[in-house]
This record gives sequence, C-alpha cells and structure tokens, in this order.
Amino acid sequence: MLGLIQKTGRLVFKWPHKWLDEVFGNSLNPLRHLGSLTIFFLWLVLVSGIWITIFFHTSVDGAYESVEYLSNDQWYLGGVMRSLHRYASDAAIVTLVLHLLKEFVFNRYRSARWFSWMTGVPLLWLIIPLGITGYWLVWDQLALYVALISSEMLDALPIFTDSMARNFLSVESLSNRFFTLMAFTHIIGLPIFLVFGIWLHVFRITRPIINPPRTIMAGALLSMLLLSLVYPALSQGKADPAAVPESLALDWYYLLVYPLMKTWPAGAVWLLLIAISLLLCLAPWLPPGRKPAVARIDLENCNGCERCVEDCPFGALEMAPRSDGQKYAAEAIVLTNLCLSCGICVGSCPTATPFRTRSVLSPGIDLPDQSVAMIRELVTDAAQGLKGKQRLLIFGCDSSTKLYDVNDAATAVIKLTCMAQLPPSFIDYILSRELADGVVLAGCANGDCQYRLGTQWTQQRIDRERDPRLRKRVDIEKLALLWTEPWSDFLNPGAAVTAFRNTLVAAKEPSVAPKGHKVLLRPVGVALAWSLFAFAAGVFTLWPPFSQLETGNAIISLTFSHASQRVKQCRRLSQKELNELPPNMRKPSDCPRERYPIKVSFRADNVLMYDQTLLPSGFWKDGESTVYNRIELAAGSHELFIGMSDSGRTEGFDFSNRTSVTLAQGQHLVVEFDHQQKTFVFK
Ligand code: HEM
Ligand code: SF4
Ligand code: SF4
Repeated sequence: MLGLIQKTGRLVFKWPHKWLDEVFGNSLNPLRHLGSLTIFFLWLVLVSGIWITIFFHTSVDGAYESVEYLSNDQWYLGGVMRSLHRYASDAAIVTLVLHLLKEFVFNRYRSARWFSWMTGVPLLWLIIPLGITGYWLVWDQLALYVALISSEMLDALPIFTDSMARNFLSVESLSNRFFTLMAFTHIIGLPIFLVFGIWLHVFRITRPIINPPRTIMAGALLSMLLLSLVYPALSQGKADPAAVPESLALDWYYLLVYPLMKTWPAGAVWLLLIAISLLLCLAPWLPPGRKPAVARIDLENCNGCERCVEDCPFGALEMAPRSDGQKYAAEAIVLTNLCLSCGICVGSCPTATPFRTRSVLSPGIDLPDQSVAMIRELVTDAAQGLKGKQRLLIFGCDSSTKLYDVNDAATAVIKLTCMAQLPPSFIDYILSRELADGVVLAGCANGDCQYRLGTQWTQQRIDRERDPRLRKRVDIEKLALLWTEPWSDFLNPGAAVTAFRNTLVAAKEPSVAPKGHKVLLRPVGVALAWSLFAFAAGVFTLWPPFSQLETGNAIISLTFSHASQRVKQCRRLSQKELNELPPNMRKPSDCPRERYPIKVSFRADNVLMYDQTLLPSGFWKDGESTVYNRIELAAGSHELFIGMSDSGRTEGFDFSNRTSVTLAQGQHLVVEFDHQQKTFVFK
C-alpha cells in the first residue's frame, strides 16, 4: 500500500521534473532544491518584514492605516515590500509542501532519517501560525475573520475560562493589548522558534544545503517581485465588527482549515489537525521497516585518515582515539543509529582497493551486506560473461531502476546502493585489466542523490578533485557518467549507453545537454517556469473566494459571561458549631462555592435558535458561565427573544428580554447581558 502511494507520488512528480530538467538543467532544477528554496523565501519574508515593521502602528486605530500608507502612498517601495512579504510567505508554503511530499514519495524519511522528518513537523506548526498572525495584524475584514476564528479555536482548548472571541465582536471590546501580543508573536516569538527549528531540522546531517544556487535565488526573487508589481497585495476594507462581508478573499495556503469552523465544532477541527500531525510524526515507522546492516570498521585496516568521516552525508561517523595500540592517532567509529548503509564511506576509504589480492580484501570500513570483496567478485563474474566488441560494465545505484533493463551480451549491470559506494580504484582495475572496454556510472542527478552527497562526491573523485581520486592513468574517454533522476526512466538509459558504446566518449548528462533550438528556448522556458510558480504562489491567496455569509443574511452573536447564583446560600454558624472547629478554621459563615449552571434560550420569530445549559467555570464550579454563539439569520424584520435562568429553576427565566429588529444584509447584531441593569441588550 505504502509502496503504491509512493509510486503514484513519483509519477506525479515525474513530468514537472522532466520538463524543469530540460529547462534548467539537472542540477539547477528548483525541484531539487526545495528545502533551501524554502529558507530563501523565508529570508525574503524577513527582509520585507523589517521594512513593514518600521512603518507599522501597533494599535486598533493605527494598524490598518499604516498598512494602507505602505500600499498607497509608498507603493513603489513599501507596497512592493508588503506584497513581497505576502507572496514570499505563500511561496515558502508551496516549496515546503513540495519538499515534504518529495521526501515522502522518494522514501527519504525512514530509518535514521526519522530525525529530519520529525523535526520538520513542528516547522509546519510554526510557519502556519506565523502567516495567520501576520494576516491578523493588517486589521482589515480578513483580519477580523482570522481573529474571530482563531479565537474560537483557542476557546475550544481548556486554557482560558472566558471567551477570547468575545473581544472581537464589538468596537468597544477591541483592545490594543491584543495587537501588542500579536505583533510580538508575529515579529519576535514565532520567528525565533522557527530559526531554532530549522537549525534543529538540519543540524544532524552533514553539510546541509542551506542556500540554493544563485540562479535559482535570482529566479525566485524576480518571480516574487514580478508578482508583487503585477498584482500588489491589498487590504480588504477596514475591520468593522458591526458588519460581516458576504465573501472574503482567503489565503488558502495559511487558512485552509478555517472554513471548516463554519460547519464543524472547533474540537473536531483540532482533532483533525492533531491526527494529521500524529500521522506525520509516526510516518517513519509506518509500517516498521528492516534496517540493513550498518557500516562496519575493520580496525586492522583503518589508518585513521578521516576520509570516511569527511564524506558521510549523515554524520554517522566520527574519529576517536586509537584503541588497538597501532601507531595511528585515531580510528573511525560508526554511530550505528545514524547510519543509512549507503556505502559512501566505503567509496572514500583508501584501503578499499580491488588491486589487493595478496591478503583478504577487507577495507577499513565496509558494508556487511555488499562488501568491497563481493563487488569485486561481481565485477569479475560479470566481466567473464561479456562478449563482443566494446564490452561495457555499468554500475547503477539503487534508484536507477530502469537501467537494469539494459542487458545484452556485451553489457553487464551491477547494482550498488549508492554510486559513491564504488571506490574509483575499481574503474582503474576494470580498465587496466581489460575486464571491459568502457565503464558507465549511472546515479541520481546532482542535488537529488538518494543519499544526498553521493553524486557530488563521485563526480569530484572522477574529476580528480577529491580523495580518493581517479588515477591519472585512467583514460577518461572510456568512462561515461549518467547522472539520471532517482527514477531514471526519464532518460532512455539504453540509448545513452548505445551512444556511449559507439563513441566510447565521456557523455556527461547526455539527456539534458541542450542542442540547437533548445538552447534558444531555454530562457523562455525558465521565464515561463518562474511565471507559473509566481502564479501558483499568488492565485490561492485570493481565489476561490470564501463565502462567509449566505447572500441576504445577517449575523447575531450571543455573547456574555455571567456568574449564576450559588447552589447553597451562605449560612451563619452557631456558636456551638464554631466551637467544634479548630481555631484556625473558624469563620462566622459557611459559604459553599458551587454555582448553578445557567440556561440560555434564544428565539427568533418564536423559532428556537439556541438552547443551552452552561456550566460554571473553574475546578470548584464557582466561576462565571460563558455564552458565545453566532447565529446566521435572513436579513429583514424579526421578533427576537432571549431568556436566562441562573437559579437552577426548571421552568421560566430569571432574566429575559425581547425586541423587534430590522436587520440589514451583512449586519452584525450583538446580544449581551448588562450586569448593571440586569437585563439583555441588543446592539
Ligand atoms: C520551514 C520548513 C522547512 C525547511 C526550511 C526545510 C529545509 C530543509 C533543508 C535545508 C534540508 C537539507 C537538505 C539537504 O541538504 O539535503 C532538509 C532536509 C530534510 N527535510 Fe526539511 N525543511 C522544512 C520542513 C520539512 C518538513 C515539514 C518535513 C517533513 C515532515 C521535512 C523533511 C525533511 C527530511 C526528511 C530531510 C532529510 C533529507 C535527507 O536526509 O536526505 N522538512 N530540510
Ligand atoms: S576512510 Fe578508511 S582508513 Fe580512513 S578513517 Fe575511514 S575507515 Fe579508516
Ligand atoms: S554507510 Fe553511509 S551513512 Fe553509514 S557511515 Fe557510511 S556513509 Fe555514513
């Protein structure tokens, strides 16, 4: 089942990947830099956010105007910064979700990778509230909606005794302290946690790629600027608690679950969010998989050169003081819980050489399931079976599945876990002993190696830039590098191999090297790709509009807190009773704290719209009961009635009021309890 989901996911990625590979080239394809691209968009958010903060007024009255000033009076800079801030935030969500999906469909989240995966989940819980609090600060109609729904969601948690949402129902209840709190959360609190979260997310892997290549950064920046200029981000009218707009332009990237609150209870929305988060957290173990045997050190052959530590992409190796009395200062040790059994360390070890025939071929570090000795045996066996001219030995990595179809009498394919598992000395060995006439290395494209750095290290070793280097005597013309995609059937490896056989000329990235008209079309493709990305980042910030209120309706909010009567009245203690009590507990009267629940009924035109019994808050049931409910009603004339009993009576009400109102479309009427006049007010 999991395999099927992942396979389908890979198919979905396949075509955009293929097209972008042709346009950008394998290693500059933005789909191969999604994590670092997310960080780049967050940088844009930071820089533009600083500019907005300089002009922002943290108050109910000043917030909207200050943002309007940026958009209208300073449109050329402040307006662009505001739009950049919004669109880069949306772009970060796009790349973040793609990053998550890609790690999932390519199975790069299980085994020792659980840590990167699991530390990614809280980043979602930081970045989404960051966007939500941002929308809150603008204090337009959307902000009011965001404030109300967020508060309704928070009210469902057992944190506050009073209703937070009540603060946003009328002009009088609005307060600047919420703005200060939101501004602090948005500008300081959440960003600090996000920076720490990103650091934690990547700190365990070696050489995390934090910045995408410069051309990608330029494309991303230009696309966001273009979007900001063509479609500047604007507010949706100043927040007015007395009116409810029929529809709102919702940023679906950040507010996707908010519309659920219209029909679902807040508890159900929380359950959904918690269930998704739990599922994500547990995903690396669903179902539990078998961990292949991890790399093993053979101390007798380890000279402490540290190359394996340098090359391991997952920080699974470290050096320790020598423990076996040999003359070397240090020895490598494997941190087994971090090892992914990729074999990259084996390819880096100078002692992993197939030329060693006098003694047992046992390098300083090896993979028990596919040791260097086994690979040498595979090579010898395969070479013996090769027939014809231009005999080829192809090494493919775990991901180059399509490659294994290429098999004829003059070709043999040997499967490795990662291409960097193969020490370069093997190529020398094969060609110098004429075991084959040419060698092909086929692995994942640069930037998308299943084991992060395998392609990069192999390329550098072959280019003689990284130890262990390919020996100078090896004729490079007899070697072809096919850096294919993880699924590898984008290329026609068969055709590429045949081409290589015919020429026996190094064919680096043969599928993506553009020819003729393709060279001219490339900039057009790049511009188109970034424009499409900008469109995708922008379109769901406004579309489809969210219908907050049915056409022709108005809203009535019932909202108040009330302390009901106590279940038992205070009673003066008699002298006898007082004498029986210890001296420190003697009080003249006994006042049980518990209060009655309150019962509230609301009718419109004699139709019961709300009828609830609400418990007093507090552990001792001695606090206020809070009523908060929003009711949608057709605009027009209505007879409204509200009644409340707070004395435990079963029939009738202790307080009630009725009124005739004519509601305009979109009007917001608030029904409160006036504690001084002891009656309900409709305003
Ligand atoms: C703000 C959000 C995020 C940012 C900025 C981010 C960034 C990054 C970066 C820079 C890397 C290192 C890439 C490399 O050098 O190979 C990475 C790796 C990874 N990320 Fe994220 N990430 C984010 C969210 C997530 C989420 C939500 C998940 C999944 C729940 C996730 C899963 C992973 C995994 C599994 C790896 C390790 C890949 C490997 O070992 O090959 N990330 N991320
Ligand atoms: S690369 Fe080989 S020899 Fe060098 S420290 Fe690692 S295991 Fe030892
Ligand atoms: S097998 Fe891979 S993960 Fe394990 S120690 Fe070697 S390089 Fe690191």
